[in-house]
Amino acid sequence: MFREGWRANEAMKPLVEKLSNTVLNELALSFWSQKLAPPARKAQPDIVALGKAITEKHNCVQCHKADLTGQQHVPRIAGPHKDYLLEQLKGFKAAKRADFDGTMTSAAQALTPEELEPLADYLATLVVP
Ligand code: HEC
Repeated sequence: MFREGWRANEAMKPLVEKLSNTVLNELALSFWSQKLAPPARKAQPDIVALGKAITEKHNCVQCHKADLTGQQHVPRIAGPHKDYLLEQLKGFKAAKRADFDGTMTSAAQALTPEELEPLADYLATLVVP
């Protein structure tokens, strides 16, 4: 998506625009097979309770799986950095973060602006085996 310019990003575009599909496949496989670093921050019980309630209310688990580790083209959302997650959620809600098939942009429309920060906070602290 960065290479084709569907997901517009000035930092990423020049790095990937000349890469072949074969190289992209190799990169994906290489990232996928790496061991995950533990989350940067520890989960606080109140953040966990609130975040979990929001993911249940909005059915995030339906596509991202019960443990939020993702499947096929649906990415892992358990464990990335909070700032990154918040940026993506804001982008989807504003329909500015391009997505592959439009499902995430639709899913984000039901989120209230107040839910975005606690949600990102919660997802960033999830430890995944
Ligand atoms: C109908 C299926 C569906 C539902 C429901 C859904 N998502 Fe997604 N989500 C996706 C898909 C597909 C993508 C990949 C988008 C793309 O093409 O980049 C995605 C991407 C994301 C990303 C970006 C991850 C990254 O690495 O850039 C975040 C964050 C996210 N979803 C959070 C959520 C949260 C939180 C919920 C619940 C409020 C949710 N999603 C509900 C399908 C869904």
